[in-house]
Amino acid sequence: MDYKELYRIAIKAAENSYAPFSKFRVGAALLTKDGEVFTGVNVENSSYGATICAERTTFTKAISEGKREFTAIAITGNGKTAWPCGICRQFMYEFGSDLVVITGEDEAHLEIMKLSELLPHGFTL
Ligand code: THU
Repeated sequence: MDYKELYRIAIKAAENSYAPFSKFRVGAALLTKDGEVFTGVNVENSSYGATICAERTTFTKAISEGKREFTAIAITGNGKTAWPCGICRQFMYEFGSDLVVITGEDEAHLEIMKLSELLPHGFTL
C-alpha cells in the first residue's frame, strides 16, 4: 500500500461524507501496522458542535475493531488538501506521534508530515 493509493482511498471515502452545512466533504483512510485500511468521513449535525471530523470517525472505527497501531493516514477535503484540525491531532497523538499524515491538492502533489511535526509536545498522561 503506497501513499498515493491511500490518498485515492480517502478521496473515494469522501463520497460518503455527510456535510450538508459546510459542504466541505472530508474523507480519510487509515493504514494499520498490519496492513488493513479503515476509512471515515466527517459527519455534521444540525447542532453544529456535535459534528465529528473524518479523522476521528476513522480512528474510532479502527479502535473499535481492536486496532491500536497505525502507520499512516491520508486526508482530503473536497478532493484537495486538508490538514487535520487541532482536536484531531491530539486525538491521533494518543496512538503514536510517528504517524505519517498525507494530504495534498491531488495524488501527484502529496504533502507528507509526521504527526510529531504537526503537533509538537502533544499531551499524554
Ligand atoms: N473537518 C474534518 O473532517 N476534519 C478536520 O480535520 C477539520 C474539519 C470537517 C468538520 C466539518 O464537517 C467540516 O470539516 C468543516 O469544518
